[in-house]
Amino acid sequence: MTHILCKTTDIEDPGSKSFEVKIHRKTQAIFVVHKEGEFFAYYNKCPHTGASLEWQEDQFLDLDKALIQCTTHDALFMIDTGECIAGPCVGDLLQTLALTIKDDEIHLNI
Ligand code: FES
Repeated sequence: MTHILCKTTDIEDPGSKSFEVKIHRKTQAIFVVHKEGEFFAYYNKCPHTGASLEWQEDQFLDLDKALIQCTTHDALFMIDTGECIAGPCVGDLLQTLALTIKDDEIHLNI
């Protein structure tokens, strides 16, 4: 089953956007990052405490837009793998979600 999130042009490159989607009958907060033409999706849950990551609506990236940053204790994560490379949960992973790009739309595979 897929769920259409938005158009590919709705997220700047680099940039990010949050969504609420129903996954297995539960509403879940997720976010998508657009970087160098590619899209990556994760649950909006820091592996450190389970907190939401963004510092402002749709703002999940650090100032250089090179890494995902958790606003609570500044953990930094790789955009393409979700691996924490700095901060209190180094080595832990954001939980990834699968996407398919079809006809300029971003589809979440659930
Ligand atoms: S809650 Fe994300 S780094 Fe602590």
